[in-house]
Amino acid sequence: MPHSQTVTDKVTDTDSDVLIIGCGLAGMTLALSLPPTLRITLLSKGAAHECASAWAQGGIAAVLDASDSIEAHVQDTLTAGAGLCDETAVRRILEQGPAAIEWLLGHDVPFTTEVNGQLHKLHLTREGGHSARRIAHAADRTGHAVHQRLLQACKLRKHITLLEHCTATDLLQDAQQRCIGAAVRHADGRVQQLRASHTALATGGMGQIYASTTTPTCATGDGIAMAWRAGCAVRDLEFMQFHPTALHIHGKAVGLISEALRGEGALLYLPKKDGNPGERFMLRHDPRAELAPRDIVSRAIDAEMRERHLPYVLLDITHQSREWLAHHFPGVMALCAAHGIDIATQAIPVAPCAHYTCGGVQAYVNGRTSMAGLWAIGEVARTGLHGANRLASNSLLECVVMGRAAAHAMAAQPLPKHCIIHSSKRNEPKGLSPITPLEMQQSLQQLMQQNVGIVRSNHSLITAAKQLVLWRAQWRAADHAVRNQLTLCSLMVDAALQRHVSAGAHYNLDWPALEEATA
Ligand code: FAD
Ligand code: SIN
Repeated sequence: MPHSQTVTDKVTDTDSDVLIIGCGLAGMTLALSLPPTLRITLLSKGAAHECASAWAQGGIAAVLDASDSIEAHVQDTLTAGAGLCDETAVRRILEQGPAAIEWLLGHDVPFTTEVNGQLHKLHLTREGGHSARRIAHAADRTGHAVHQRLLQACKLRKHITLLEHCTATDLLQDAQQRCIGAAVRHADGRVQQLRASHTALATGGMGQIYASTTTPTCATGDGIAMAWRAGCAVRDLEFMQFHPTALHIHGKAVGLISEALRGEGALLYLPKKDGNPGERFMLRHDPRAELAPRDIVSRAIDAEMRERHLPYVLLDITHQSREWLAHHFPGVMALCAAHGIDIATQAIPVAPCAHYTCGGVQAYVNGRTSMAGLWAIGEVARTGLHGANRLASNSLLECVVMGRAAAHAMAAQPLPKHCIIHSSKRNEPKGLSPITPLEMQQSLQQLMQQNVGIVRSNHSLITAAKQLVLWRAQWRAADHAVRNQLTLCSLMVDAALQRHVSAGAHYNLDWPALEEATA
């Protein structure tokens, strides 16, 4: 039988006021927005630049043009979210869009500008589901530009200690179940308890539970798994967003082709026998065609690929000049060139793959969770902004708004003291498994890809659930990475089985669409 373990330890001077687990946009925004009187520890599982934030391409959505309105941004977000957003959270976050961009400009983020009369203003691009041009961007390397500037700023602040290659494995709690820090493992194998008055999860999403994903290797959902184990509420995990256009080479996703290409007129075609673009198919699926919300475009591509046994479809932006493409999409151009594709003259082979975790740790817009002392910000959190499907470029915005709001809320609260650690980590008996942890992780990714992908059915979900029960028994005492992955896959499959409608990123052949079910 599993049993609890109690560990007591004294507070030492090395403890921090705020422990931030994750050094992406959400974590760094929080760190930079807290008062310099607080001692902050900022963790990154790998090198600081290895995170989804640094990989972001398209940009950050915000209402920045007089012809646009917050109301239009709200309506687009609610439509993409397929009726399952929390409208209060949507309004709170989107209203902060212009202030979030101002804040980033204050950190010298080099957004792309255009000359309009005498004025230099931000160039705004467009993406699927948006009724207006409202995406601020730094060419197609927005994430890199933002991350680099904020990381520089964090490194210059004496009150922020950055620990790279340091993995949080479990949350620490006191006897009242308050979160008082985290247990971490350093790259050299050292294990340490980092205690803090406030602990913020900023660990990003869990795209890596799929075999084919746009996400970096750190996106293993550790924050969600740790919070769940500690007794925190998680929600909406069945809504894994698939990006419609990952670059596909030899049957593998090798990088993202930004939705902003479709915003700038790129069209999707079925490949002809000679490999050139043939029929344009999106209009058969949705009147918004290539600019329909992501779940719709991904399902349409998936359906065409299945019906015609195609490994990919083609995305064509050859109507734009080479100079224009080099200015707006240098990253995509270089990525494709590395695989022998010249996007100025050739169509790009693309297919959908796992991209964004719409659900996560249940949190308010200021990051408060159901556990005292624990905050969740950015992709790890489920605020209700995304509902069943995220609107493109709303994620980076959510990171900045939540990071700033959490800083404000923490600073307004007296720092609680943390003295006694009560660890309820389970010591479970060892199970037996004939395969290595890496093989296990790959088997899990295949299981999720095949049974819990863009299109699901009750049969595929039950098949996955049965297999997970077996593997959980075999891997009870596995290393924390496999344990986390098993927990997350099980949570996601359970959530999918309990959702008795098809909505947004959760499409189950055996359940009607939400609109039909509620008509
Ligand atoms: P991340 O940036 O993923 O950072 C997570 C951090 O947590 C990392 O530092 C990681 O090391 C750390 N971490 C994780 N686990 C642990 C652990 N156990 N211990 C210690 N540290 C840990 N969104 C947009 O709005 N616009 C875009 O243009 C856009 N483009 C995208 C392009 C790509 C290729 C991808 C993958 C996503 C894109 N997204 C975009 C989504 C967006 O980038 C992410 O949702 C967002 O950056 C998440 O930020 P974050 O700070 O929450 O997490
Ligand atoms: C992209 O550039 O297509 C990614 C945008 C996003 O995920 O919001």
